[in-house]
Amino acid sequence: MTSAYAIEVEALTKTFGTLKAVDGLSFTVEYGSVVGFIGPNGAGKTTTMRSLVGHVRPDAGRVHVAGRPYRDLADPLGTVGAVLETGAVHPGRSGRNHLRILARQAGIPRRRVEEVIDGVGLGQAAGRRVGGYSLGMRQRLALAAALLGDPAILMLDEPANGLDPEGIRWLREFLRGLAAQGRGVLVSSHGLPELALMIDEAVVVGHGQLITQQPLADLRKLGGGPTVQISVPEPDRLAALLREQGHQVLECAGPIVTVAGDDARSVGRVAFDHGIGVHRLLVEEPSLEEAYFRLTTGKDSIR
Ligand SMILES: Nc1ncnc2c1ncn2[C@@H]1O[C@H](COP(=O)(O)OP(=O)(O)OP(=O)(O)O)[C@@H](O)[C@H]1O
Ligand SMILES: [Mg+2]
Repeated sequence: MTSAYAIEVEALTKTFGTLKAVDGLSFTVEYGSVVGFIGPNGAGKTTTMRSLVGHVRPDAGRVHVAGRPYRDLADPLGTVGAVLETGAVHPGRSGRNHLRILARQAGIPRRRVEEVIDGVGLGQAAGRRVGGYSLGMRQRLALAAALLGDPAILMLDEPANGLDPEGIRWLREFLRGLAAQGRGVLVSSHGLPELALMIDEAVVVGHGQLITQQPLADLRKLGGGPTVQISVPEPDRLAALLREQGHQVLECAGPIVTVAGDDARSVGRVAFDHGIGVHRLLVEEPSLEEAYFRLTTGKDSIR
């Protein structure tokens, strides 16, 4: 029986000494979607991911991949690929040799090594010593290793770390592609905006607890609604006129008047009708960064 969920965490608790690293955490990841696992440093993300692949033994709760505990999977490498840490590779080996050794140990055919090298865009670097790899190349190599068994579930701990903008764009397309093939992907980060273009849903955690699990579009709304910002030489006068016309003026700071809503046209019209010159007029969309801060303020971490 395969489970409806790629990943299912239910009431997971893990304590180190007196510290509750994970505290009654529950969330799910569906096949065909990329879920961001997001929270400040020390929120319990890595501990949760390590529990999912059996590196950490939970004190309580259930951590299932493909419907069962990791240790009960008949074909672990073919079920879930995890990138939990980089740098555990023999520095004198080439990336290709490293992957060949992993493939041999797992009984995976050699040709699969070339497929994953191509898949992650390691290219020429595959033949070079891992000791000379940049952080971004190490991330790609670790991803290649996780993909060797062609797993339907991927779990990546901070994969955007060390990637340049080009690499982040590549990662985004790559993860979207995996989800489009029906795979379930869990990807952690300590910021929401970095993942905004990669994920369908976000699981936001703080102090080892779930803050919220929501589609990205809903989270965006938590950042507040859109606003119109208009920059003029007479901001106070314009603010008063806008209020008279029924606009909700949120702020008047320096030359900029901020108005609730996205009706730039009617805001601009008020200025025009009263002969106020407009230097700048724009609509600001609700910000994910703002949403993230509203959710997580006071939830960091170093405990
Ligand atoms: N093996 C361990 N022994 C003791 N404490 C640990 C251990 N692993 C994690 N912790 C503690 O558990 C808490 C959660 O750590 P975890 O690494 O899961 O957080 P994180 O969300 O991954 O943080 P970051 O964003 O910094 O990677 C931290 O306070 C950390 O110090
Ligand atoms: Mg971590």
